[in-house]
Amino acid sequence: MTNHKKLKAWVQEWAECCQPDHVYWCNGSEEESQRLLDEMVSSGAAVRLDESKRPGSYAFNSDPSDVARVEDRTFISTEKEEDAGPSNNWMSPAELKATMRDLYRGSMRGRTMYVIPFSMGHLGSDIAHIGVEITDSPYVVVNMRIMTRMGQAVLDILGDDGHFVPCMHSVGAPLEPGEQDVPWPCAPIAQKYISHFPETGEIWSYGSGYGGNALLGKKCFALRIASYMAKQEGWLAEHMLILGITNPEGEKKYLAAAFPSACGKTNLAMLISTIPGWKVEIVGDDIAWMKFGKDGRLYAINPEYGFFGVAPMTSMDTNPNAMLSMTKNSIFTNVGLTPDRDVWWEGIGTPCPEGTITWKNKVFDPAAGEPAAHPNARFTAPARQCPALDPAWDDPAGVPISAILFGGRRPSTVPLVFQSFNWNHGVFLGSIVGSEVTAATIGLKAGVRRDPFAMWPFCGYHMGDYFRHWIQIGENAPVKEVLPKIFNVNWFRKDENGKWLWPGYGDNIRVLEWIFDRCNNNVGGVETPIGLVPRKEDIDLRGLEDVKENLEELLRVDREKWLDECGLIADHYAKFGDKLPGELTAEFEKLKLRLQ
Ligand code: OXD
Ligand code: MN
Repeated sequence: MTNHKKLKAWVQEWAECCQPDHVYWCNGSEEESQRLLDEMVSSGAAVRLDESKRPGSYAFNSDPSDVARVEDRTFISTEKEEDAGPSNNWMSPAELKATMRDLYRGSMRGRTMYVIPFSMGHLGSDIAHIGVEITDSPYVVVNMRIMTRMGQAVLDILGDDGHFVPCMHSVGAPLEPGEQDVPWPCAPIAQKYISHFPETGEIWSYGSGYGGNALLGKKCFALRIASYMAKQEGWLAEHMLILGITNPEGEKKYLAAAFPSACGKTNLAMLISTIPGWKVEIVGDDIAWMKFGKDGRLYAINPEYGFFGVAPMTSMDTNPNAMLSMTKNSIFTNVGLTPDRDVWWEGIGTPCPEGTITWKNKVFDPAAGEPAAHPNARFTAPARQCPALDPAWDDPAGVPISAILFGGRRPSTVPLVFQSFNWNHGVFLGSIVGSEVTAATIGLKAGVRRDPFAMWPFCGYHMGDYFRHWIQIGENAPVKEVLPKIFNVNWFRKDENGKWLWPGYGDNIRVLEWIFDRCNNNVGGVETPIGLVPRKEDIDLRGLEDVKENLEELLRVDREKWLDECGLIADHYAKFGDKLPGELTAEFEKLKLRLQ
């Protein structure tokens, strides 16, 4: 329990508004989590998986209307509209709060209000921050216990007057007396709001029980609110994986990498090397908080405590470490359920057992054209279960970052890897990250969809100011020589027939090897208009001879294509108006000159 007056008053205020039947403060214990899971199995919201196959694990299916983050219903609510910038939906705090308060009024009738104290980052680390989530979803409670450090220990650290980020959540489905609950309560799409008030450091979420809409520590707090806090306080909150890489001599470095959603961050962070002697270990697969340490280096923590990964296409071939992380104590959402009560999804690497039930509760029929698992089906697994966990993953001091990688899905134009000339040029590379989408991708125009720093959906303020913050981090670095080196990678190059030029997955270690050696200055880089590119002989292709003939193309800088790219960059940059830092305009001009 707690004597924190402000926290108690906040909970009381929301209890009066939402009118739950009970208010319950979560202590974070195993017993508590088990009780909630048992209740959800009894109510039909969850299925307990076979204890001998997947001990302590459960499967949930969401309502078919509630399957992903809802970017259209996500708001950054600042006093002035121009402070939210081009990447965010905006509404004024007064209007948004009035609308949402009406929705929250009575929204927890017939339900329990859970209070979840949680820490993003090691309890008490000076890079960590505390949040408290109020929710009426027991599914959220059991997921938050995996994804964050949660419970009484957090209240103890918070003391009587510690600072916390208030995170308000309701699924928006009150129950009338005697009304039977549904397995996955939620509100219709038009009533969903995922709202952030960065200036007052608050999150209000209504109507969805799924993923980042409801597990408020993740995208809402650790990215949108934290990016704003980081700007004020001189640190970085980023959509980045963190990994440790050890060379055959036993030397270790840490890298952070930002790729847009669905570009393989989890796979890279859990990579198993295909070249002898090299090893990768994971610190985090989605979010990095970074601060300068006393020695002037940039130190990163993973503020999360578990993985909330996309299940489809995850297999013992593509990502054995992910598969091994979810062998027990895991939660599965929107996957197929096999007759022997285990899970199945497209791309799991084994044939679908007859009689598998789809996420929509139908018997799976391969001929019907509907998948067994929703494409955004998820596993929630405790990080400590990952066999490749880095020994320093829970170190409160974080890990020192030697290199930062950016990248997206670019079938053409962008080489396999290149290094920026300097920090500002690296910020330029971050600002133009994008993935090519085809016309088939629903609702999107074909072309390059820009996702600067992989933060487009997650930056809690004007993205032009965010770019400026990155420039300032470089300017204010206490020891410029130890700033991370910045690279761009692209695993997704194809030839003119649409064939992959690079095998990816475990073979990406060969690119990390070049990056590692660049950080030690013991391998060359050829100067090109776009940056420093490896020579063919600098990429270690031992055991991968058939890729040799692709290497020239993989490393080629095609001036014509880059001139076209400059046209696209100009369109992209126009979105930021006069908030675009002059340093980035200068980098863009220099690129165009070098391409002439
Ligand atoms: C995620 C995302 O779920 O980036 O991590 O969409
Ligand atoms: Mn992500």
